[in-house]
Parts: sequence; C-alpha cells; structure tokens
Amino acid sequence: MTEVVQTPSAFTPRVFSGIQPSGGLTLGNYLGAIKRFVDMQGQYDQTIYCMVDLHAITVWQDPEKLRHATRELCAGFIASGIDPKQSILFNQSRVPEHAQLAWIFNCVARMGWMQRMTQWKDKAGKNQQNASLGLFAYPALMAADILIYHATHVPVGEDQKQHLELTRDIAIKFNNDFKVDFFPITEPVIEGAATRVMSLRDGSKKMSKSDPSDASRINMTDDADKIATKIRKAKTDPDGLPSEVDGLEGRPEARNLVNIYAALADTSVEAVLAEVGGLQFSEFKPKLSELAVAKLAPISGEMARLMQDTGEIDKILDLGAEQAREIATPVLKRTYEIVGMVGA
Ligand code: AMP
Ligand code: TRP
Repeated sequence: MTEVVQTPSAFTPRVFSGIQPSGGLTLGNYLGAIKRFVDMQGQYDQTIYCMVDLHAITVWQDPEKLRHATRELCAGFIASGIDPKQSILFNQSRVPEHAQLAWIFNCVARMGWMQRMTQWKDKAGKNQQNASLGLFAYPALMAADILIYHATHVPVGEDQKQHLELTRDIAIKFNNDFKVDFFPITEPVIEGAATRVMSLRDGSKKMSKSDPSDASRINMTDDADKIATKIRKAKTDPDGLPSEVDGLEGRPEARNLVNIYAALADTSVEAVLAEVGGLQFSEFKPKLSELAVAKLAPISGEMARLMQDTGEIDKILDLGAEQAREIATPVLKRTYEIVGMVGA
C-alpha cells in the first residue's frame, strides 16, 4: 500500500493523475500508475483520474482510434478497481478549464524550462522543427491538469518526475509573480516496486505502448497464452535468481522480472527473493506467468465486458466531467482575477 505523505501546505489533500489514451494499456501503466491509483482511492477523501485526450493529440492520433482508446482506458480504470462513485473519472477535453489554465501557464513557464524536458527531447527526436507546438507545451498543460484542482498528490511512474518538478516550478513562479499563495506545491508520489517497468526485450528501455515490438510489453488486453509466451521469451541472463537484492546489481532484466513479480504480488523485492532465490529462470518464469495471468485476466475480461456497452462508459464520463467542472470553474475564475482579466 502507498504510504500517505502529509503535505506541509494548507491545501486539502487531493489526488490527481492522468493517462494518455494513445493506444492500449500496458503492464507498465497498470503497475506504475493504475494499481496505485486504486490504492490511493481508499486513502484520500478526493481522488480524480483523467484520460488526457488533449495530451494524446500532441502526436498524430486517428480520430476513431482515439475515441476507442479513451473509452477502453475508462474501462481499464474501472476494471482495475477505480469506482466512479468514489473517484472522479473523466476525459480532459470535457473540462475546458484545463486548456484555459494551460494558456496562462504557457505565459508563466519559460522556453528554457521546456527545452530541458527529456520527454520532449525523446519524443521530438532529431527533427524538433517538425514536432507540434503542443508537444513542446505539453508540460504546461500537465501542470494545468493538476493545479486546476489544487491537487496536492500526484501518483505517477518514474518517467514523469521531471514534469512534476516543472509543475512545482510553475506554481512557485505564479505565486511569486502575483504575490499570492494560490497554487499548492504538488508532491509527486513515485513509490513501490514497479515505478519503472522495463521492456521484456531490453532491460535498459522502458516498457512502452509505442515500442514497435509487441513482444517487449504485456498489454492489458493480452490473453493468458500471449502473456505466458511473452514472459517465456523475455530476455534474461544465464545465472539463477539471487537470494538478496544486491545480487540483482548489473542485471537489469532479472531485476525487472523480480520487480514485476513483487508489484503483482503486493509484496517487497526482498520477500520475493527470499522465496525464489536459487531458482533458475526456467523455473521462475512459469511462476511469474501464473501470477500475471491470475492478476491480469480478470481485469482484461472485465474490460471486454464493459466495452460491450460504451453507452454506460459515456454516462460515467458525463458525470465525471460535471463533477470535475464544479471544482475547476471557481479555480479558473480566481486565476483570471489574480492575473487581471476584466469580468472574471
Ligand atoms: P502514459 O501512458 O505515458 O500516459 O503514462 C501513464 C502513467 O503510466 C504515468 O504515470 C507513467 O509514469 C506510467 N507508466 C508508463 N509506462 C510505465 C512503465 N514502463 N513503468 C512504470 N510506469 C509507467
Ligand atoms: N504526462 C503523463 C504521461 O505521459 C500523463 C499526464 C498528463 C499526467 N497530465 C497529467 C500525469 C497530470 C499526472 C498528472 O504519463
């Protein structure tokens, strides 16, 4: 379980996080994000989870596929245990205050801050001139997602750490520039055994929905056979499993499989190694497959069932957008007043 970190600020603890509907969900998204969102749902009074469709279109998305991926992501949240009665669940574009606050933040953040973002450099690649302006400004929209709710805690995977530091910088600069204490300084929550799930083919690369090799990842929609095949073929080294964490040093593929096992079993890496230390990978992999199938098959089954009635999903998203706007509207109004917009 994630430990509740007390924020030193005067803001009411509130959790926000988002996932892009830019393709299917991977085991990385599940262990690094959604599973932890579910844990936090029971620990905080208010939890808000968002399908960030406006972020997804910073790179090309086929409109039909985007619609499908947004609903499927919503089904993934619910199937994993997010309860729309306990958490606010909605898609970003339905709450226009995100984009409106992002514009203000575009005027607060500096070009140099954005240029330093490693995700921008990775995604834009060698041809930055041809990347969309939205991809460059992406972190300002992310800051707006969080700060429009005055969220204090943001659970994410390791790869989002830099964006959350930028969110803090934007809040600090806004508060300083306008001499207010209006936006909270958000706490990133990056915890657990699987904050960075790696590719099954290359232990130095993050597991990602955009990796061209399907064998590199486990998709939440993969069936039991596919999961077992991918784990059986996962890259490993010739040694057996160590009994102590030190023994994983310099063995990224072994470490990754043990981390995945620990996160799926809701236990620590130490506890896993105490149990499986001394086994060969040929013995450990079937255990991992069995655990992965036991944990993931009910979720993918439930996702498929929910996707049969997208009308029901759309109703949940309607309600979530309404609830989200109730919080966002007064925050945007106050921001406009602080900035000096007449009529706000
Ligand atoms: P994205 O799919 O890029 O929108 O990511 C959604 C969430 O999943 C973010 O909190 C990411 O940090 C997290 N995430 C994505 N890939 C991984 C991974 N391989 N390991 C751990 N967390 C991940
Ligand atoms: N940038 C995040 C990712 O790619 C997704 C995201 C958008 C997000 N807005 C957010 C995550 C706000 C946390 C909070 O993973």
